[in-house]
Amino acid sequence: TIDQKVNALLKKMTLEEKIGQLNQYSNDNSITGPITINPNKQAEIKNGLVGSMLNVTGAESTKNYQKLAMQSRLKIPMLFGQDVIHGYKTTFPIPLAEAASWDLAAIELAARVAATEASASGIHWTFAPMVDIGRDPRWGRVMEGAGEDTYLGSKIAYARVKGFQGNKLGDLNSVMACVKHFAAYGAAVGGRDYNSVDMSERMLWETYLPPFKAALDAGAATFMNSFNDLNGIPATANAHLQRDILKGKWNFQGFVVSDWGSIGEMVAHGYSKDLKSAALAAITAGSDMDMESIAYKNHLAELVKESKVSIDLVDDAVERILRKKFELGLFEDPYKYSDQKRADKALNDPENRKAALDMAQKSIVLLKNENQTLPLSKNLKTIAFIGPMVKEYKENMGFWSVELPNVDYDKWIVSQWDGLQNKVGKNTKLLYAKGCEVEGDNKDGFAEAVATAKQADVVILSIGEKRDMSGEAKSRSDLHLPGVQEDLVKAIQATGKPVVVLVNAGRPLIFNWTADNVPAIVYTWWLGTEAGTAIANVLFGDYNPSGKLPMTFPREIGQIPIYYNHFSTGRPAKDEDSKNYVSAYIDLKNSPKFPFGYGLSYTKFNYSDLKLSSTKMKSNETIKVSFQLSNVGKVAGEEVVQLYLKDKFGSVVRPVLELRDFQKIKLNAGESKTIEFTIDKEKLSFYNNKLEWTAEPGDFEVMIGASSADIKLKSDFELVQ
Ligand code: IFM
Repeated sequence: TIDQKVNALLKKMTLEEKIGQLNQYSNDNSITGPITINPNKQAEIKNGLVGSMLNVTGAESTKNYQKLAMQSRLKIPMLFGQDVIHGYKTTFPIPLAEAASWDLAAIELAARVAATEASASGIHWTFAPMVDIGRDPRWGRVMEGAGEDTYLGSKIAYARVKGFQGNKLGDLNSVMACVKHFAAYGAAVGGRDYNSVDMSERMLWETYLPPFKAALDAGAATFMNSFNDLNGIPATANAHLQRDILKGKWNFQGFVVSDWGSIGEMVAHGYSKDLKSAALAAITAGSDMDMESIAYKNHLAELVKESKVSIDLVDDAVERILRKKFELGLFEDPYKYSDQKRADKALNDPENRKAALDMAQKSIVLLKNENQTLPLSKNLKTIAFIGPMVKEYKENMGFWSVELPNVDYDKWIVSQWDGLQNKVGKNTKLLYAKGCEVEGDNKDGFAEAVATAKQADVVILSIGEKRDMSGEAKSRSDLHLPGVQEDLVKAIQATGKPVVVLVNAGRPLIFNWTADNVPAIVYTWWLGTEAGTAIANVLFGDYNPSGKLPMTFPREIGQIPIYYNHFSTGRPAKDEDSKNYVSAYIDLKNSPKFPFGYGLSYTKFNYSDLKLSSTKMKSNETIKVSFQLSNVGKVAGEEVVQLYLKDKFGSVVRPVLELRDFQKIKLNAGESKTIEFTIDKEKLSFYNNKLEWTAEPGDFEVMIGASSADIKLKSDFELVQ
């Protein structure tokens, strides 16, 4: 068995070789964190002192590095890890955008395609999915997660792990998933990256931990800990998180890697007095592999010799890592995944592009569509395509795009301009003006943009954030459209032409004037390789948009953190105008600009005829909730129907509503369907006042909505003893 093989190998290993397995270095050429100067990497690999590398890209490079490891005494293969976050070469929409699809099969497929391309290129391990709950759009990393909701986030976490890992580790097309960042990173104070987190145990369990558990249930092979401290203890040294919860209560058998340098950073945290004490704290708390701190390599042997760290602790970490190497089949063939021929085929497989296009279309959210501005007619004579994003191939890729430096942009990526040009026939003239840059205050291009707009039947304006404005270390204190872009919108809108705005971004942005004045707004996020085609298909109605927001869009920064499933408070505001000694802002509405779960379609859906199989249920029973969904518009479309629950009172206060199920339903024009959900005890459960997962008898409300703020049908029922 694998365990026997691991034990046999462990017996042959010196302490230095064991510690080598816990040591991970980055390739110097491609870094995703602060650079550490270590000229001896290659020699150390040959001496068996490096267990894993990150950022070594491509079949040839991984093979070459692996050859070095094969020169070591015990010939233990290295693991190659990489941030394959939303595709490898075929770039999919950023994860937050994919979450807007609410399409779990498509999300799983996106991860599968990424795994296929990466594994053929010698990558064994992706540092994904990021499952941190994101309630603060100032935090640049919300682009890498699934948004604000625990239920949706858990479903997506599960799908992504399944997609990356496939049927089992060791299959050629699978990579190990790494669930990150354990834990609570998304709640960094002020949305500032790497910042502290102060959180109740209740909120941790109720809101932040479930997606990690879902990923584990899907079989996630590894976890990454986190840069933040949680209630004063850095996550990297947090025994409560890693020992009690992850490896204890949840019985996680895989291994935990630190974040980049996070062991060493415990000195800066003011938690460890030096790197040696940081190594002690990290290994004791359950961090198995050291990414780029060189703390274990430099200090662990000494700590063992001084009896500060027991050899059992080291062995446990080594065993966890070796087990994965065996499961991946690396001892049989260390070059198994580094196959240039397979990579050439996988990286250029047209099916992958099809999946990327499908995912990109599904990720787009139609925020506003007045006067039937969209879809555009294919018979327009002149379209003006204006804005700083129109021709920028790279900007569509979003943060974390692995192969971006190695691709020939204009051949590989469909820019928005190319997408539109491919779509419109010869009879339509396409005009272009940049108007302005994304950032800066230069309005010199406005006059040309306005003149161009005046010549057109319709203006499409593509604006937003650049790809490097959301992502790691990309926190922003101002979420309004950057630069003079909203002024450009005003200038174009003043021409009186019908205007469609495309907002490209990695997070919810604030664009109130645009939202209130422009007739059509499409949130395109960053859609990846097929962005241009996906956007053109939506603009012309060849794809009917079906995305729904996975994060609340605030009206102003002062509302942040903002999320739909808040508690009611003892003085809830009755409506948007009540200000008198209620929980409200005196200078702003409480409601968001666009709520969680919101998104329009080119057709209309009608919800009717809610039925509950019973209005009382015992905890071992279920209630069937059914209703009619009808497509009452003129075109086929898809609707994400959302089931929310409210526990009217409990041993602790409960949210005003909570998503507990959803389905994505496709209906032809004029078609109706009976939709059914099942409510069981699990759906009614929460962490009670003793932090036990249970359902408490009492009154509940079930709500069926088109968004968290658009409840179409509702009914009460009771959970009886
Ligand atoms: O995987 C990432 C992590 O999310 C942030 N720091 C760097 C790691 C490796 O690139």
